[in-house]
Amino acid sequence: MRTRLRTRLAQRTAQHTQCGPNRSPNRISPLAIDSRRRLPLYIMSESPNWSNPLRDSRDLRLPRIAGPCSLVIFGVTGDLAQKKLLPAVYDLANRGLLPPSFGLTGFARRDWTQERFIEFVKAAVQAHCRTPFKESTWRNLAAGIRFVQGTFDDPEAFERLSATVQELDRDRGTQGNHAFYMSVPPRAFPQVAKQLAASGLSRSSEGAWRRVIIEKPFGHDLASAKELDSVVSEVFDPSSVFRIDHYLGKETVQNLLALRFANAMYEPIWNANYVDHVQITMAEDIGIGGRAGYYDGIGAARDVIQNHLLQLMALTAMEEPVSFTAKDLTAEKTKVLSAVRLPKDLAANTARGQYAKGWQGSHEVVGYLEEKGIDPKSTTETYAAIRLDIDTRRWAGVPFYLRCGKRLGKRVTEIAVVFKRAPHLPFEQTAVRELGKNAIVIRVQPDEGVTMRFGAKVPGGSTMEVRDVNMDFSYGRSFTENSPEAYERLILDVLLGDPPLFPTTEEVNLSWEILDPIEQFWSTLGQPQAYRAGTWGPAQADEMLARDGRHWRMP
Ligand code: BG6
Repeated sequence: MRTRLRTRLAQRTAQHTQCGPNRSPNRISPLAIDSRRRLPLYIMSESPNWSNPLRDSRDLRLPRIAGPCSLVIFGVTGDLAQKKLLPAVYDLANRGLLPPSFGLTGFARRDWTQERFIEFVKAAVQAHCRTPFKESTWRNLAAGIRFVQGTFDDPEAFERLSATVQELDRDRGTQGNHAFYMSVPPRAFPQVAKQLAASGLSRSSEGAWRRVIIEKPFGHDLASAKELDSVVSEVFDPSSVFRIDHYLGKETVQNLLALRFANAMYEPIWNANYVDHVQITMAEDIGIGGRAGYYDGIGAARDVIQNHLLQLMALTAMEEPVSFTAKDLTAEKTKVLSAVRLPKDLAANTARGQYAKGWQGSHEVVGYLEEKGIDPKSTTETYAAIRLDIDTRRWAGVPFYLRCGKRLGKRVTEIAVVFKRAPHLPFEQTAVRELGKNAIVIRVQPDEGVTMRFGAKVPGGSTMEVRDVNMDFSYGRSFTENSPEAYERLILDVLLGDPPLFPTTEEVNLSWEILDPIEQFWSTLGQPQAYRAGTWGPAQADEMLARDGRHWRMP
């Protein structure tokens, strides 16, 4: 038995290591330079292999570069494309991770010339790129940019798109490999998918690939998600469909896996014996901006709990996967999502709110109902909090509290694993009055890092006074390189055909199964409770935790 286990572990290590031909046993590998002290940080391994679970079986020293291919973006004039997708493509090119022959095609209704479109892309890139803007990178990228004017209901526009893609194959050498990014509302997916099929664009010639990238939301409930899925799967093979949940592309989310599975000290306490509860917070200080059309009727829970927060919960709660392949990761996340139990009393264990006017820093901001494009009687929630339980041996009795909201005190996303109190405190009661519960907080953004909160003796004094202190790891301080944007990582993964960071249909459906009963319950309630912009949400949310004898962390 032991030998079998050891063999399995050895195989697994081999699968996930970056072992090069020159690696020697007990090698000490410099990982980074501490930016303040300018000292290299080292990780020492007893075995010839040291592994980074985030990089799977890839060699760290070899950059992952996409082969010949192109990306077609539907909805290219939208906010997401301008602020995230186009800059991400440029940043990838700037980092040398796209092939020199890369092609980028925009498909949009606007009556633009190709030159006008290239100017538009350049402006978006210059305004939002993460890496420095370099004329040489831009010139090379711009040479592969094409524009197709048309609407989704026009078969001739898709014929033109087909001709453009073939021209890229011929002139740029994209070799028939094309990815289609649907940055469009879900109601448009079926139409675009059908047009791609009718024009032959969804089919590749031998040796080439066609992939489709679908932006969330994947439907608005389980039934619509299934419908959407059946349309897309009629056109594309399931292995060619990449659903984007950009939170999975964030470095700190991936670091959660490193924290849990590359270290020895967390897993032994990562369970119901030690953990009191888990709080997952996604707070935003922005309002709905120009997204009234999308947001109203959708609300906070469908917008981010169904996807980002449930994914964070699954990664926090899952067992160690056999490997970091898509199949094995999904298997573990799926188990967690299947084991979720909703509270019987949804009124007591959920909360919803809607922001009223208030102050965001020094700016006075309007309430949700006064926002442009919002129905003044809208019952859409801009804040949501829910308690979920996970019925597994590891998590029995440990509530997971998920909360998210717009126009809150500040922008912060974090996962806080809050521990039970020590079973016995051998100090006088007065001396430990200020002591809270220990916590490990994974800060997803901003200021990515990990904080450990624990009790320490206050210096001096004749009594043993213990107070909470923080021990902090910050990415910014420990690593010299700043993290790539989530979309850089995810677009590159699609071009490489690398699926571990994309939720599967099963995960999407299970997430809707969790959320649907809550949404149905909320739909009977009418107006959500108001909270002043710039505060931490409705009183209901505080009451929800107070009933369990707990309180929300102040991030
Ligand atoms: C999107 C939501 O998925 O995530 C938005 O639709 C939200 O409402 C955004 O503002 C937040 O993303 P990030 O990366 O800024 O946390």
